[in-house]
Amino acid sequence: MASSRGEFGSRFGFVMAASGSAVGLGNIWGFPTQAATNGGAAFLLVYLFLAFVLAYPILMAELVIGRHAHANAVSALRQISPTRLTGNIGALGGMAGFVIASLILTFYAIVAGWMMAFCLASVADLIGLTDFSRWLMTFGWWRNVVFMLAFMALTMAIITAGVRAGIEQWSQRLMPTLLIMLAALVGYVLTQEGASDGLKVYLMPDFRSALSPQLIIAALGSAFFSLSLGVGTMLIYGSYLKDDENLPIVGGLVTLVDVSIAVLAGFLVLPAMYVALHNGVEIFTETGALISEDTLIFTVLPELFATMGIAGVLGSITLFFLMSIAALTSAISMLEVPVAYAIEEHGTKRRNAVLIIGSLIALGSVVILLHFESLFGLVIAITTRYSQPLLGLMMCVYAGWVWRRDSLLRELRKNDPSAAEGLFWKVWPWYVKFVCPVIILAIFSHATWG
Ligand code: PFF
Repeated sequence: MASSRGEFGSRFGFVMAASGSAVGLGNIWGFPTQAATNGGAAFLLVYLFLAFVLAYPILMAELVIGRHAHANAVSALRQISPTRLTGNIGALGGMAGFVIASLILTFYAIVAGWMMAFCLASVADLIGLTDFSRWLMTFGWWRNVVFMLAFMALTMAIITAGVRAGIEQWSQRLMPTLLIMLAALVGYVLTQEGASDGLKVYLMPDFRSALSPQLIIAALGSAFFSLSLGVGTMLIYGSYLKDDENLPIVGGLVTLVDVSIAVLAGFLVLPAMYVALHNGVEIFTETGALISEDTLIFTVLPELFATMGIAGVLGSITLFFLMSIAALTSAISMLEVPVAYAIEEHGTKRRNAVLIIGSLIALGSVVILLHFESLFGLVIAITTRYSQPLLGLMMCVYAGWVWRRDSLLRELRKNDPSAAEGLFWKVWPWYVKFVCPVIILAIFSHATWG
């Protein structure tokens, strides 16, 4: 059955695809700007802690459940449930997951469209089309719609090609490209004057701001967002894994790649800001904080590149191309979640499922663009700050409490007959059962009731 529904061809292919899902705008844009404004290296430590101590075990829960069921989240959570009630609740959770994955894609496609527009704007600058370049860099209805649609079309084209020829092949091409471009940009920026001040800000820990409750809930949200947890993305990728693959190792590799790229991106963004300062660009807000979020990416960095002549144009093309690639490999994993569900549960043909679901998501993006002020931030908060951690909690409950331990162990034994004696089996089951839910609930209740 597994082979008729698509399967990753190699470990490398899976690690590239799953880390392609994990590495996205969250790493290259979100993490460095949060670290910059929230205690530098101290934020880095909180983030690393949450990534390995909380996010990795939940990633493992999704991968193990997915590979066991070789099915989408709805049917997988049903399969591991011993009773009808838990089966139905699990199926509902799986459905909530694909709705949230689709909603994340509605805003993600808009932002990714901006990245593509900015990349093209630098190319237009290079060949002297300044008016066109200005149009591409200006927030406007047509620019936003056209590039959101272009990005969705790319995402849909890859998903239509299926698991091996689409997701795996493209991730294998795009992820190494991303890494090379990122390393080259970091190398270049670090040689510029002013970069060392940015390094100091990035690496100097300020524990007071990094340990505030608001910050920890933000770091929790970003750890979940960064590893694409809760919504069934990793579960569905796990379901395309072969039974002989060593799950704790591939899960560890994916976490490592994700965290390393976030940390590496910090070595780009923070030093770049201080190079900008050195070149006369304003990098602080009126209150004295570092400019962050969209103003950083779409104003400060372009202004920096504008001071650097031809090297700046090339730097700008590289940066926005890199962001577009990172966004694309994440977006394909989001679209695969509802598409796999439609194929497996309703017998829809892949091509039709992609066309219908992709169009509905694009329509959702249009609605957000029509009510940008009120909807954009709201959809981000609902999906990433609340839904992802809560759905992650559900994954822990299903892996730790609902699924029978003997069946779970049998799954781990498929690739490692001595799994019962290993460290993973000694620690992880009780860890997802008690520790992860308690941490998630504690952070949540603290944030809600103070
Ligand atoms: N992990 C992606 C990022 O860091 O940008 C975002 C993401 C991908 C979230 C896939 C959720 C998802 F299902």
